[in-house]
Amino acid sequence: MQGSFTGYIKRICIHPDWSGKGIGTKLMRFAEDRIFSVKPNVFLCVSSFNLKAKELYLKLGYEVIGEIKDYIVSGYSEIVLRKTKGPIHS
Ligand SMILES: CC(C)(COP(=O)(O)OP(=O)(O)OC[C@H]1O[C@@H](n2cnc3c(N)ncnc32)[C@H](O)[C@@H]1OP(=O)(O)O)[C@@H](O)C(=O)NCCC(=O)NCCS
Repeated sequence: MQGSFTGYIKRICIHPDWSGKGIGTKLMRFAEDRIFSVKPNVFLCVSSFNLKAKELYLKLGYEVIGEIKDYIVSGYSEIVLRKTKGPIHS
């Protein structure tokens, strides 16, 4: 929550046995509530091949704001996503 790109969600993982039951959505909402209570932006990255996770983030209101090519896996990108309540200085 300090420095550049504050409100960056680094990682979220649900055990496969529990996937698709709404837990990921609840965890995202929990993190968003925590971040939005003090900062107006939430950022995260998703690998370009992780289509289901990307779909979830778009459904939650995230917007694609960038692409980091060949960052983790060659031939794929990290898609940068942002959900915002407004500018830092209004
Ligand atoms: C992505 C992830 C966190 C989502 O958590 P979840 O608890 O399965 O998600 P929810 O049940 O709240 O929401 C399901 C929605 O997420 C999406 N989704 C993403 N991965 C999914 C999966 N493996 N199974 C089912 N739905 C998945 C679908 O759009 C789905 O929407 P729908 O229910 O309308 O079909 C979880 O699947 C996971 O840990 N995946 C592996 C690790 C990973 O990719 N993490 C994200 C890195 S950026």
